[in-house]
Amino acid sequence: MPLMTELPAHAALVRHHAAIHDLHMRDLFAADPDRFAKFSLRLGDILFDYSKNRITAETMALLFDLARQAGVEARRDAMFSGEKINRTEDRAVLHVALRNRANRPILVDGADVMPEVNRVLEQMRDFCAKVHSGAWTGYTGKKITDVVNIGIGGSDLGPQMATLALAHYAVPGITAHFVSNVDGTHLAETFKRVSPETTLFIIASKTFTTLETMANAHTARDWFLAAAGDEAAVAKHFVALSTNAEAVAKFGIDTANMFAFWDWVGGRYSLWSAIGLSIALAVGFDNYEAMLEGAFVADEHFRNTPLEKNIPVVMGLVGIWYNNFFGAQTQAILPYDQYLTRFAAYFQQGDMESDGKSVAADGRYVPYSTGPIIWGEPGTNGQHAFYQLIHQGTKLIPCDFLAAAVSHNPLGRHQDMLLSNFFAQTEALMRGKTEEEAKAELADKGYDTDRLALLSRAKSFSGNRPTNSFLYKTLDPKTLGTLIALYEHKIFTQGTIWDINSYDQMGVELGKVLAGTILKELENNASVASHDCSTNALITYYKQLRS
Ligand code: F6P
Repeated sequence: MPLMTELPAHAALVRHHAAIHDLHMRDLFAADPDRFAKFSLRLGDILFDYSKNRITAETMALLFDLARQAGVEARRDAMFSGEKINRTEDRAVLHVALRNRANRPILVDGADVMPEVNRVLEQMRDFCAKVHSGAWTGYTGKKITDVVNIGIGGSDLGPQMATLALAHYAVPGITAHFVSNVDGTHLAETFKRVSPETTLFIIASKTFTTLETMANAHTARDWFLAAAGDEAAVAKHFVALSTNAEAVAKFGIDTANMFAFWDWVGGRYSLWSAIGLSIALAVGFDNYEAMLEGAFVADEHFRNTPLEKNIPVVMGLVGIWYNNFFGAQTQAILPYDQYLTRFAAYFQQGDMESDGKSVAADGRYVPYSTGPIIWGEPGTNGQHAFYQLIHQGTKLIPCDFLAAAVSHNPLGRHQDMLLSNFFAQTEALMRGKTEEEAKAELADKGYDTDRLALLSRAKSFSGNRPTNSFLYKTLDPKTLGTLIALYEHKIFTQGTIWDINSYDQMGVELGKVLAGTILKELENNASVASHDCSTNALITYYKQLRS
């Protein structure tokens, strides 16, 4: 594939950007009362409004040309059909198979993956039923009350985000905990809240070699055995989610208690696989399955809808418009929903580990900006923290706003207050406030001319700051599944246009290797001279402080 900048649509977009980049959305809205109708899409009850962007019909037409010229449709079809589009690792990319509710055969190396997908889902369903009914007990015969998922990255963030998002659906009597950090504090603080007799440890690791997870798993096992005193009891309290049966057996978990997945499931796309076991235990298997159903709705939409009406394609293209033509560096994700408190953190890995790349398919370095920095916090908290910079700072920060219309917790007028902030923020970011408007307001309040001159600029807002809005009925498991999958396909769309491989993660390797070397050097208190002088000094000072 040619690089993005070699596509004819790219050159056309450069010219178009030069012509329209000063247009103000305030004027675009004033000129076209149908702007919302033209630039919004629906999927079920999910409304995606992208009208508050610095785009015209021509912008979108050129962006769709870019997507077509970059081969988004062909590559999407290649992914869904099981082709090995993860070229550096020579793997298929098939998280979509995990929620393929139509059970359409998907072949990898000539074999349909669906029977195995369905088998593991059944294994998860049976296991959840046993734990929830109390048929599965701890070593003293007591019911399991706490589930501790030990994993990191994709083996932690997805389960944690979804379990929090679906807390309204929590199964009574089961508390989920998530331990990821190799900092012993994470595990130690969790031990304070659980009892060995009633705790199930889920060791979640695709590779079953990740340093943090293995260290935490061994320490959890030691803690458990200190109480149980019997190796045979481990089988009732430790299960594994992995692709690596050999390493699971070596750790001491019976492979009968292992839930498998496959190398074609990327870590950051694995909450749909056995890695989702903690979600299913926390909120019930039926709700977990509803999440899969929701993702399938997004998959079918992405697979079958023309680019012009395709929500993840539009999300991806609008993102590229800011990233590559306006020079935006970041993308904020701002859920007006306390249940989505980890949604932005989840997509920090999802997006940044996927599209934080710089090498094209043919080995060339790409001469353009790729994946954005993803960040965000739930509204309205963010408003009192960082929105100042979004409104009046010098950086352009495209924002996604998300909210449910109906709260699971209808307390007084809280939901109207929450949503009024959502609507007000997107409107203010779009409209801004001119100096003249600010002056008029100040004059009304009786400010004298000097004060008025000083304050009118500080109180004006340039506006023209882009937002997408997602509004849906309620955050149920199905809607959550759809939203996650829409974002996944947005990442795919962008990675395809940038011609990078969204499905490897080689950039996290170097630090891991160096940490292994340094860990050995920390075994004694001798000063260290094998690194640069800063690293040597830091290690040596650490050794002094700890001794
Ligand atoms: O951070 C690198 C990474 O490989 C992620 O892609 C992955 O989600 C995480 O480590 C955990 O890996 P594993 O599931 O193999 O323990």
